[in-house]
Amino acid sequence: MIDPFGRSITYLRVSVTDRCDLRCVYCMSENMTFLPKPDILSFEELERLCSAFIRLGTRKIRITGGEPLVRKDVMSLFASLGGRLGAGLDELTLTTNGTQLAKYAPALAECGVRRVNVSLDTLDPARFAAVTRRGRIVPTLDGIFAAKRAGLAVKINAVAMKGVNEHEFDAMLAWCGEHGFDLCLIETMPLGEIADDRIDQYLPLSVVRARLRERWTLLDTSYRTGGPARYFTVAETGQRIGFITPMTHNFCESCNRVRLTCTGTLFMCLGQEDAADLRAVIRSGATDRELDAAVLVAIARKPRGHDFVIDRREARPALARHMSVTGG
Ligand code: 5AD
Ligand code: SF4
Repeated sequence: MIDPFGRSITYLRVSVTDRCDLRCVYCMSENMTFLPKPDILSFEELERLCSAFIRLGTRKIRITGGEPLVRKDVMSLFASLGGRLGAGLDELTLTTNGTQLAKYAPALAECGVRRVNVSLDTLDPARFAAVTRRGRIVPTLDGIFAAKRAGLAVKINAVAMKGVNEHEFDAMLAWCGEHGFDLCLIETMPLGEIADDRIDQYLPLSVVRARLRERWTLLDTSYRTGGPARYFTVAETGQRIGFITPMTHNFCESCNRVRLTCTGTLFMCLGQEDAADLRAVIRSGATDRELDAAVLVAIARKPRGHDFVIDRREARPALARHMSVTGG
């Protein structure tokens, strides 16, 4: 699958549910309305769509949400996709908030998952409760260490928020170094209606990186995970730190991914509204060949890039859709 800008689309992110057991302030509003069950693809439907993408050249699949591990029987999907590893698929990963990871880490490893991204914005229990609006930090920490014990490489994802966790990154970098985790900092993106004012939360990572350099030696690397993060090796710990800067730096030129939601909507760009309804295609009884054709038509519409801006006069988000729809 080659898009109109010559980018090879080899990475599919699949959101298996829009639900989550947390309500992170930058991600959701306090009172979210979730999708009705009949709108959600069954695992058979999700597998069929994933098979089409693998047939068409997808090498890497990341399972996301909402929180993927809150969907009942999600391990059956990991088992079946895990069976495709080495047979078209090179990598199967997930992004999780970790709350259910203690329960699932060994099974995930058995399915062939080698790496997990765990969202953790703070190491402070009270701040964790505030940011997630309801979460307890202990299950997430237990999940992280269960993943490590199961032999999974762990990357911690933290959204950088002004006045919230901005003075914790030294401590988080040290903690990650101690336990052998990579850390990835993310700028808040203007997605979805949330209660708080996003402009107040926005913190450019250029500022964070300059502050980190006062204490740590960040060595340039060419390391890439196939994602938009720019990585440095932390000389003092040997671990990596990544920065995802959608707001201050446009990383779209090298975009290799598309996103499938749990309703079978394919978003060609995280930062654009255009989408293709693949659920309609499969529920209308399309053959595999017709399904493949529909995917290719969508890929041919992949836009050059997003145009997120934090508009100070405009209180509305750049996109109405929440991150829990497309899974980051
Ligand atoms: N901006 C930036 N990151 C976000 N995430 C969720 N919502 C936003 C947002 N508005 C992060 C989560 C998770 C990843 C999938 O996306 O913390 O780490
Ligand atoms: Fe849930 Fe992740 Fe959104 Fe937090 S950021 S509410 S953990 S989906």
